[in-house]
Amino acid sequence: MLKVQSLFTEYTNELGQPVKAAQDVNIDVPEGHFFTLLGPSGCGKTTTLRSIAGLERPKSGDISVNGVPVFSAARRIFVPPNQRGFGMVFQSYAIWPHMDVFTNTAFPLQVGKKNYSRAEIDTKVMKVLSAVQLDHLRDREATKLSGGQQQRLALARALVMEPKLLLLDEPLSNLDAKLRELMRFELKRLQRELKITTVYVTHDQSEALALSHQVAVMNQGRIQQIGSPRDIYERPQNQFVADFVGSTNFVEGIVRSRDNADDCYVIETEIGALRSKSVEPVQVGDKVVLSIRPEDVQLTDEQPSDIRVNAWHAMVDQKVFLGEAMDFRITINKRTLLSRTHPSVRTPIGHPVWAYVNPSKSVAMPAVPA
Ligand SMILES: Nc1ncnc2c1ncn2[C@@H]1O[C@H](COP(=O)(O)OP(=O)(O)OP(=O)(O)O)[C@@H](O)[C@H]1O
Ligand SMILES: [Mg+2]
Repeated sequence: MLKVQSLFTEYTNELGQPVKAAQDVNIDVPEGHFFTLLGPSGCGKTTTLRSIAGLERPKSGDISVNGVPVFSAARRIFVPPNQRGFGMVFQSYAIWPHMDVFTNTAFPLQVGKKNYSRAEIDTKVMKVLSAVQLDHLRDREATKLSGGQQQRLALARALVMEPKLLLLDEPLSNLDAKLRELMRFELKRLQRELKITTVYVTHDQSEALALSHQVAVMNQGRIQQIGSPRDIYERPQNQFVADFVGSTNFVEGIVRSRDNADDCYVIETEIGALRSKSVEPVQVGDKVVLSIRPEDVQLTDEQPSDIRVNAWHAMVDQKVFLGEAMDFRITINKRTLLSRTHPSVRTPIGHPVWAYVNPSKSVAMPAVPA
């Protein structure tokens, strides 16, 4: 539905030097999908979104919706933002304080190109207000809404034009943690219900994983990996993705052999030989880095009987009770690993414990020279 090809957007800084904000961005969002741009501050998420919206003029590339170009550098096409027909909610959502909920939502319809009758406006507004669960507050002044309600109002205003594409730039960033989680569910429900193709921007990895059909992880203007939340989390293609999405243990090593029966590799590391899978094929002798999620480092008092798992005799160094889980810091041959395990594990600090990792939960990736 939305196709972005070889997009480059640059700015000029105070010294007149180019800032390469979006570099060779390629995305393809199918109809009805929720697509997220995820990455650290300054990586080019807003730039990419503003380029799609038409609020920035890219240096090169192509952007099209259902095959119709809205931007093409080569063909000199630039459709102005107000003619692209996209709904948008930006980081600082501006609602109009002197208007009530109903008038705020109706505003885009009243100033738009089409002439709607009062009855039509009423029907459309009440439909989106009930979708965001604000219908009971239609006469409330916008300033007398809670943060989450204002957020939903901004969303209602973006939705009322029934846009073919919805662009959201960190729309939940101003809410407290509880409300953000609640809105996350509402946003997901709303998007699925209305089936609006959505491009969402966030630097919050749990938000990205919770909401999206597909996530593009960005760093320094470039997309590092695009995949389903599970793909990104379980099969990161490089260290940046593994590190940014969730927390992980990195263990360096050298590939010693391949075990075809098990579809995994034997890697020589500082904590001994370790069986691991790999996203990309690697060769014997390659330098690799293993990424092992803390929740995949399991602890037990008994030596694991399955000889196929990686098991070590470790020492408990630190532990933190989190309610639903326990975080342990353990040491193996002076090397520290983080483990998130079931709170029933009670091994005291300074005591030995068995740590084990299923080979399918260790991901080898090429070591990139720093
Ligand atoms: N108008 C501008 N002029 C010059 N440089 C800019 C401009 N807007 C953004 N930049 C730079 O472009 C890069 C990408 O910025 P962008 O706003 O796209 O990042 P972001 O990923 O949205 O970050 P955040 O999570 O902090 O919102 C940054 O280095 C930023 O400083
Ligand atoms: Mg931004």
